[in-house]
Amino acid sequence: MMFADRVLSGMRPTGNLHLGHYHGVLKNWIRLQHEYQCLFFVADWHALTTHYDTPSSIEHNTREMLIDWIAAGVDPSQAVLFVQSHVPEHAELHLLLSMITPLGWLERVPSYKEQQEKLSEKDLSTYGFLGYPLLQSADILIYRANMVPVGEDQVPHVEFTREIARRFNHLFGKEPGFEDKAQEAVRKLGSRRAKVYRELRLRYQEQGDAQALSSARALLDEAQNVSLGDRERLFGYLEGGGRIILTEPEALLTEAARMPGTDGQKMSKSYDNTIGLREHPDAVIKKIRTMPTDPARVRRTDPGEPEKCPVWQFHLVYSDDARKQWVLNGCRSAGIGCLQCKQPVIDAILVEQQPMRERVEPYLKDPTLLNSIIADGRERARKLAQETMRDVRDAMGLRPS
Ligand code: TRP
Ligand code: SF4
Repeated sequence: MMFADRVLSGMRPTGNLHLGHYHGVLKNWIRLQHEYQCLFFVADWHALTTHYDTPSSIEHNTREMLIDWIAAGVDPSQAVLFVQSHVPEHAELHLLLSMITPLGWLERVPSYKEQQEKLSEKDLSTYGFLGYPLLQSADILIYRANMVPVGEDQVPHVEFTREIARRFNHLFGKEPGFEDKAQEAVRKLGSRRAKVYRELRLRYQEQGDAQALSSARALLDEAQNVSLGDRERLFGYLEGGGRIILTEPEALLTEAARMPGTDGQKMSKSYDNTIGLREHPDAVIKKIRTMPTDPARVRRTDPGEPEKCPVWQFHLVYSDDARKQWVLNGCRSAGIGCLQCKQPVIDAILVEQQPMRERVEPYLKDPTLLNSIIADGRERARKLAQETMRDVRDAMGLRPS
């Protein structure tokens, strides 16, 4: 690839995170941070598009969410953690992209109408809300991120971003004399490589041969002594367009977590059935102990059916085969009581949360620790964002004189 692999994802600061977030999104981030350069940010501007009337809660939730991420094991020394509004370049790119974004594309994004209907008590017929997906595109494109881990609901936003990148490259990737400069760059590859490059390019452009495209890309990856500008031209020329200024991202689909809530439905704030990531052990114990079970088990001696019991859903997440068998047999034969059945679930959750509580202890004792992580993340993110903005301004004829 022309640019290094880079992962980016964001989350709106909507409130304290729960175990559903952990088993769904965060575990995935934690895995990715060891494999790739990762940037994770708090999308506070995105939160304002719907919560513009309660900005102070956004500020509070931003800090809480960063602490939740760190609790879960997102490591600020591995990944860049930052706050969207601290990198004003996102807004500049959003503005510039807005010049080339057809209104119809925005109106067609599925979340637009859906959210307006769902949050009907709010006036969401705003300019900012319509632009939500484009702001997200700017978030992604400004880091030239090629991988964006998101849930299913966000895939259309990543697709939209790809279209915006393609349109941008098409409109602004053609520098004057591009064709000549590209051919000159081909010659500089040396006669043997140049010959292979030309053949592969033709095969791709005339016959759509995808194999030829990837071979040509590999050839460019290997070629030494090619300047960055020429390299971009060669990649662009290969596919028929101009230079590739903005990278088209791919969605890395995060599998929906099977994490149940205390009522057996999916864990979600709107169902009021969550267990917080950093919830106090006493509260966890109480929530599980008072969870409903199979209604057929009125008395201890009544047999039950795990399939009809939300507690069983927790065993599916936390128990090994032997323990699951113990539940199935014990429940159906009334050999175990419900509190007895719940105890290993309580234990497993407390064990899972223990390192989370430990990780955040220093941050709770000393709030300035988080400040320095935020400041450091901001600096690292801005540096990358500014590099892209230089190229974008350049391509659009907006050089500072
Ligand atoms: N829209 C995303 C959500 O609601 C949050 C988000 C904003 C995001 N910008 C992003 C996610 C960029 C991935 C990449 O979940
Ligand atoms: Fe549910 Fe376990 Fe009670 Fe059976 S024994 S009803 S699975 S809590």
